[in-house]
Amino acid sequence: MNALKPDIAISGGDLVEDALILNTEEAHEQYDLYIELCKSFDMPVYDIMGNHEMVGLYAPDKISPDHPDWGKELFKKKVGGGKTYRSFNHKGAHFVLLDSLNIRKKENEVGHTYIGLIGEEQMAWLKNDLAGLTPETPVIAVSHVPCITWWWVSRFGPFEPHGPRIILHDGNELINLFKPYNLIGFLQGHVHIDEIYIYNNIKFVSSGAIMGVHWTDTNKDDEGNEPGFNLVHVFDDRIETEYICIGCDPSLYRK
Ligand SMILES: [Fe+2]
Repeated sequence: MNALKPDIAISGGDLVEDALILNTEEAHEQYDLYIELCKSFDMPVYDIMGNHEMVGLYAPDKISPDHPDWGKELFKKKVGGGKTYRSFNHKGAHFVLLDSLNIRKKENEVGHTYIGLIGEEQMAWLKNDLAGLTPETPVIAVSHVPCITWWWVSRFGPFEPHGPRIILHDGNELINLFKPYNLIGFLQGHVHIDEIYIYNNIKFVSSGAIMGVHWTDTNKDDEGNEPGFNLVHVFDDRIETEYICIGCDPSLYRK
């Protein structure tokens, strides 16, 4: 990535291995490892939250929801600048970094889970955030949980109920909010593979992943997807992407 000299890097979530199942000490260790690794980037790195950054949701025996690091709090403190969603401008383009995770208490069970949801509060913030933009300003949104993914349908069939954790429940409402504006790119995470869809001139790109459970002992997963990242070129009216495959060292992957 340094050799390509991009202006900025955006990490689309799933930054640490799995804080969902960790206690606070272990979660701190994983976040610190991620922060240490990011020091080798030459460009500024903007992080958004993935499901694996939420601390202890699946580990009610290890950490209480009352703990100051539980859930989204550690992300806010360590890499989010105190927030789980925010926006910034770069060279005339407006970037919106969304929080696509909504924490829910498990029904009839101890512990918590999450669904893919932007939610009313963040929608209100977004409406206000976009209000200052001209209709021509190029806008790029980043969400860990995708608005659209063929990957899920291809694996589980079109009639399988979409996993509430796989796709944004309020994706339609979200995209409608952007309609008066020049949304040219919607960058997605979560599925860990490279996918591109174009709808109403909006390019939805699942940005792939440099590491994940999909890669075990080969350079590809069982569907031929390779680890990598997307190099995104931003123009006034569109984005163009190049998927850069990085290969992998099988010894790094947990069996
Ligand atoms: Fe994820």
